[in-house]
Amino acid sequence: MRTFKDRYYLALKQVSKIANSTLSLRKIFDSIAKNITKAMQANGCCVFLLDHKKEYLIIVGTYGLSDIYLRKGPLNAHKSLPEILAGKVVTVANASKDKRIQHPQVAEEQRVHSILGAPILREGEIIGEIRVYTREPRQFSKADIDFINSIADVNTVLIERAKLQQLLARRYKVSEKKAKLAQAPQSPTASLRPTEFVHPSEEQFAKLLDFYCIEWLYEPRSFPLRWENNTVVEMFTPDFYLPGLNLYIELTTLQQPLITTKNRKLRLLKELYPEINIKLLAKNDFFKLLAKYGYGPQGKAKIEGVNQVLYTHTQIQRRIRTLARHISHDYASSERLVLVGVLKGVVCFMTDLMQHLSLPVIIDFMSISYYGGGDSQVVKITKDIDSSITGQHVLMIEDIVDTGMTLNYILSHFSAQNPASLRVCTLLDKRARRLANISLDYVGFEIPDEFVVGYGLDYKGEYRNLPFIGILQPELFKESKPQ
Ligand code: PRP
Repeated sequence: MRTFKDRYYLALKQVSKIANSTLSLRKIFDSIAKNITKAMQANGCCVFLLDHKKEYLIIVGTYGLSDIYLRKGPLNAHKSLPEILAGKVVTVANASKDKRIQHPQVAEEQRVHSILGAPILREGEIIGEIRVYTREPRQFSKADIDFINSIADVNTVLIERAKLQQLLARRYKVSEKKAKLAQAPQSPTASLRPTEFVHPSEEQFAKLLDFYCIEWLYEPRSFPLRWENNTVVEMFTPDFYLPGLNLYIELTTLQQPLITTKNRKLRLLKELYPEINIKLLAKNDFFKLLAKYGYGPQGKAKIEGVNQVLYTHTQIQRRIRTLARHISHDYASSERLVLVGVLKGVVCFMTDLMQHLSLPVIIDFMSISYYGGGDSQVVKITKDIDSSITGQHVLMIEDIVDTGMTLNYILSHFSAQNPASLRVCTLLDKRARRLANISLDYVGFEIPDEFVVGYGLDYKGEYRNLPFIGILQPELFKESKPQ
């Protein structure tokens, strides 16, 4: 009989071999999960990657677990064994009784008793997790933990390799510029998701969601609909879950019998799970849904000429709340803070930011203009702030810092008035085009060298009212001055 040392040694050897094979990523991760399960004499294993917001765990490989357990619902990494996100290896003695488990009832029903979870790290940053499950109570040993950590390291190398391959493949297929665009705003793990779609329309739908930067999870939950003798005999698994909208989506085909069956299942689902928000969608319905949020071909806002959504309204709001938390913390001991916005692009950002600041604030605005052209262009203040900032803590608010020339001018103008402190907060930082060497204290997003519009930013006065930030088609502005 093999000792645990033999089993772990053989599994590591086997996993390194699989990692070097030409199998698809999905198959490699499934195979790793199988090897872990067997070596640890456990009952199942899952390999997860974190989505780009580091919120949800996406299954990339699995072995030995029931479909009901795998599709028990979206797995939020902050609610389910959150210590793993802090880089710790976690053991769970009894999953159905442990508060750190997000779906304890399903664990009990599906006979998942003990769990061992470990982070997958890349350069000190958590990018995924491995979890091992047993049906019987189990005390995981130091050897178990060492083994799972070593396997996690192999996964890191695998993910790196896959990304490199995809990057190289892309270089050959598309132009450099398109490759940069495709990488920049997208989730770093989106292209790594080895999702196997059942239907081509689902893949198309996922691409559309990616285009609009709408986070999605594919079939994360199955809803039991009918039971016979305590056994589930009918289930319904919606195609997508959109966490940002807390919405399940089921796509429809044009075949009437299928629509009738789906409608029946949906009625049943709504009766049994009234708290669930679900929509049955045809393609046209999807466009209508996007329009409701201001996106897509039927959206009210003008998006003609916008190539791609760089940041959605939800992403912007989430980032603003974080910035506001940092600012409120840093100025907590100050009597008050003077926010100075540079018109007009800053309107949306400043309005949203100030509502989340938990300290006394006063606001002021200034306006500037550019005279002349080419090298002889000069900046001039056309509207100065209304009150004195001498002795005050001042935070300059900008929508975008591009060359930095505007801010450089404004900062020297304000420094001369001896404020108690003078700092800068910008929503967007286009570092690639920086000329003036200025330091930015709070930055929302660092963006690629693209012409961006929306959420206050304009092109020839238009697009400011878009609720998101989009990239303008280069053909539109090539004649005019850079942003
Ligand atoms: C934008 C932005 C900044 C400036 C940054 O203003 O609001 O003030 O450009 O560019 P820089 O770093 O290259 O100096 P814009 O001139 O577009 O006016 P607006 O705010 O009225 O749209």
